[in-house]
Amino acid sequence: MDLRIKSFEDYKQIYNESVQDPEKFWSNVADQFHWKKSWDKVLEWNFAEPFIKWFNGGQLNITENMLDVHLDNSGDKIAFYWEPNDPEAHDTNITYKDLYHKVCKAANALKSLGIKKGDRVCIYMPMTLEAIVSIIACARIGAVHSIVFAGFSSNALADRINDASAKLVITADGLHRGSKQVPLKEMTDIALLNCTSVEHVIVLDCIHSKPEMKEGRDLDYHTLIANMHNECEAETMESEDPLFILYTSGSTGKPKGVVHSCAGFMIYTAYSFQNVFQYEEGDVFWCTADIGWITGHSYIVYGPLLSGASSVLFEGVPTYPDASRFWQICDKYKVNQFYTAPTAIRALMAHGLDYVNNCNLNSLKVIGSVGEPINEEAWNWYYKNIGKNNCSIVDTWWQTETGGIMLSGLGNLSPMKPTHAGYPLPGIQAVLLDEEGSEITKNEKEGLLCIKFPWPSIIRTTYGDHERCRITYFSDYKNYYFTGDGAKRDKDGMYRIIGRVDDVINVSGHRFGTAEIEDAINTNKYAIESAVVGFPHAIKGQGIYAFVVSESDGSADSDELVESIMGSVIEGIGKIAKPDKVLIVPGLPKTRSGKIMRRILRKIAEGEKSEFGDISTLLNPDVVKAIADKA
Ligand code: WTA
Repeated sequence: MDLRIKSFEDYKQIYNESVQDPEKFWSNVADQFHWKKSWDKVLEWNFAEPFIKWFNGGQLNITENMLDVHLDNSGDKIAFYWEPNDPEAHDTNITYKDLYHKVCKAANALKSLGIKKGDRVCIYMPMTLEAIVSIIACARIGAVHSIVFAGFSSNALADRINDASAKLVITADGLHRGSKQVPLKEMTDIALLNCTSVEHVIVLDCIHSKPEMKEGRDLDYHTLIANMHNECEAETMESEDPLFILYTSGSTGKPKGVVHSCAGFMIYTAYSFQNVFQYEEGDVFWCTADIGWITGHSYIVYGPLLSGASSVLFEGVPTYPDASRFWQICDKYKVNQFYTAPTAIRALMAHGLDYVNNCNLNSLKVIGSVGEPINEEAWNWYYKNIGKNNCSIVDTWWQTETGGIMLSGLGNLSPMKPTHAGYPLPGIQAVLLDEEGSEITKNEKEGLLCIKFPWPSIIRTTYGDHERCRITYFSDYKNYYFTGDGAKRDKDGMYRIIGRVDDVINVSGHRFGTAEIEDAINTNKYAIESAVVGFPHAIKGQGIYAFVVSESDGSADSDELVESIMGSVIEGIGKIAKPDKVLIVPGLPKTRSGKIMRRILRKIAEGEKSEFGDISTLLNPDVVKAIADKA
């Protein structure tokens, strides 16, 4: 299945066609897939509810398109090269045929535990082949997977299990992360003290830690799978049946479960994968994301397998055993397309060129960036030292909610410009709105990035709470999907993402709501009130700055108090959300109606000491100086 556009001229023409007749455009793409039954209607939609149905009446199973269709001609082709955390440990490959049989066995194992179509399965696993197998096994039988990043805490895991009422958790005894280990099973056990929906836990032996197994509930992965049959018929799914739930943070409340559906997600991840990366038969692709994030879902698991690609799956971290690991892996597997996050680029850049220059990197053709704005310095370093001045950089803008890449150059076809994501993919009708909600038609203007027409992998609902989906994405600007990002179009119509315009902060490419971090802080017995803001951080893009009013009234901000507050965030969310700075303050600047003035706190976090504009209307103007003096 070759879905690739072959030149920038073609792109322009195809883009126009996709806007003039979206249904024709997407049904031509959909025709390339294997359907159990063809659809009745290409698209029905309104953004008011929202109500979005793509290829309604069609029946399919996404896993047949990821595995079965490749068996005849490329069964022996490598699906994944698995590279362990420890470079001295044994690496393994898996072919499409092996993956198919492993998935079937795992799918039969899930069935043996009573998991049926529509049931939710939580996956809390390290970057292993068994994690990939587990994900696809769920899709094989129509179970809805909810992957929780293995860096989240027990509390965060419990919240996600409960929100989805998951019946089963698939986890491991633990995971390797550089020189450290994380006891996943122990963390799962703690989470499950507060989850009543879970009937079984499947545990993969990954670090040989022999965890305690609860009788009747916990099962060893390999023992369970061993005697299962290696064929499993794929469940018949309706186009709009849910494929998975993935939790993500917004500006208010707890993380919400973004729901994606079978047909639309399939079509869009394959289409965007092939076009953005210009993946050609025989290439080796590597996306360094974790399967716990949307990037891992779309561009480690679904997009590449739907396209019959060979990919690298890496268990470890970029700096272990040293900062040349990424580049050594690129050489080892002769990676052609490499996809990572700006935070990793900046971190490796800081280690210096010695770690790059001992590697060859001449297999690379396209190098990608995702998750946060890439600053010009990092872009240039990436282009010159990794791409050796002859690879395309694709700066891909998208979101958990969009399911796939929305704005980006296409492999070696499109013009590039540092810090600019570029043009919308075919089928993506991106617009900029002004504060009043009117479309800005001129270029060289800044506005709110919205999408005005559905694409196949648009979010369908937020799990268990459709109204929340409507309010969050479809209510601010009537008839538009609102992304939460601000952007600018240059004179040629290329988009540059400026960043979030809401209370979402992006730390090392990970999304957190400030409210979510504040909630975690407020569970601390010393904390009375808190306000969290993002501030510019050289490596992480944004850092987390927490202003906390504590019982000690600001007089004794002992290290212990700060530590304790950091501990509450680690417990509530995970180490990934640990604040870079906790400042104990006597009060928070508030308006007369009691609203916290984050604008002022952001300035203080950026290092401003005295210029705060007019603060005379504040309820407590004196507190501003007191905070700034302490910061
Ligand atoms: C930000 C990650 C600038 C943006 C795929 C978006 C980016 C949020 C880029 C979504 C990019 C993602 N340039 N900013 N190329 N890609 N973002 O849901 O603010 O984890 O709204 O999805 O990351 O983060 P999420």
